[in-house]
Amino acid sequence: MQFASRLDNVETSAIRELFKLLGTPGIISFAGGFPDSAMFDVEGLREASRLALEEPGGALQYGATEGYDPLRAQLSAFMKAKGVAVDPSGLIVTTGSQQALDLLGKTLISPGDKVIVEGPTFLATIQCFRLYGAQLISAPIDANGVKTDELEKLIAEHKPKFVYLIPTFGNPSGATLTLERRKKVLEMAVKHNTVIVEDDPYGDLYFGEAPPPSLMALTEQVPGSRELLVHCGSLSKVLSPGLRIGWMIAPAELLAKATMCKQFSDAHTSTFAQATAAQYLKSGRMPATLANVREVYGQRAKAMGAALQRELGDAIEFTQPGGGLFFWARLTGAGGRIADANVFAKRAIEKLVAFVPGAPFFAEKPDVATLRLSFATANVEKIEEGIGRLALAL
Ligand SMILES: Cc1ncc(COP(=O)(O)O)c(C=O)c1O
Repeated sequence: MQFASRLDNVETSAIRELFKLLGTPGIISFAGGFPDSAMFDVEGLREASRLALEEPGGALQYGATEGYDPLRAQLSAFMKAKGVAVDPSGLIVTTGSQQALDLLGKTLISPGDKVIVEGPTFLATIQCFRLYGAQLISAPIDANGVKTDELEKLIAEHKPKFVYLIPTFGNPSGATLTLERRKKVLEMAVKHNTVIVEDDPYGDLYFGEAPPPSLMALTEQVPGSRELLVHCGSLSKVLSPGLRIGWMIAPAELLAKATMCKQFSDAHTSTFAQATAAQYLKSGRMPATLANVREVYGQRAKAMGAALQRELGDAIEFTQPGGGLFFWARLTGAGGRIADANVFAKRAIEKLVAFVPGAPFFAEKPDVATLRLSFATANVEKIEEGIGRLALAL
């Protein structure tokens, strides 16, 4: 079969092969990016879906491409509580935040356009933007998120179509951009007239102190920045990824183009899922759900950090994440031990424990010593056992 030439830009994920091995019986997996299904508020969602079905005609009918109005109103209130003033008409509902990324690719990227992403960044973003022909440029990060001085140099040099950042508890980096750097990012957006995309599926998932306000919330402090900022949100990591509810806040002109593209793509996000999410947000259960996921994932992150330190010692470097789902670590090779995460991953699977090597998360200059470990789906006991097995694979 003759496929479209745009597919030449994309390979199937390099980590897919590894995922095939995850079915091995007895394996403890830190490889996935899923939240824990045991954490879903099934009771609350059952009640919300029941109420959704009682809405006269609404939940089972075709709907507006921009989204179901009661959900847009609830999401506007949800964002307001996080310091973002947005009218319901200033956001569209998307089929997961993944669709927002795809719509941004469709509406903004022409073949050959340059887009700056963090090194490392979310793998599906790399694949999606490449599908539209983007030339990706990687901006280095540290534990405090993207290095703003380097980012500014890259913006000045490449004049990108836009910059894509995951400023809070990044996937895979776990890193969070400091308040000072956030303001710098907004200032450089205005100075260089550059669009910034803030992908924020993890911002609500913090364990201790709340992270700094989102870039979108901070636009009020930097005149001119709101017109250059796109914010993607999602209910996937805190409520349920199966609902496929995300949203995008963007300048009106971009939102209109994205809505047009969405119309050709899926007409609208499932009305039933939207009505259910709206009822759920209206029910007032969200604060308790957030408190629960923060508590449980916080305990798991703590256990993983302690176990890594205890079991792997100076063979590995990492920063304890303050939220999200991931540890990002680097093999040091100390004492002649393994420094290549691909080799380590294969040996780890022989010891019945899995993680994801970090190299595929880099759009440029992969660091083969890096790896990503998710602490979301294993309980504390399994985490300790799994990290113990990792130590045996070194
Ligand atoms: C950074 C980032 N963006 C977007 C997504 C997509 O999430 P969803 O489409 O479920 O909202 C994910 C999921 O893993 C992610 O990690």
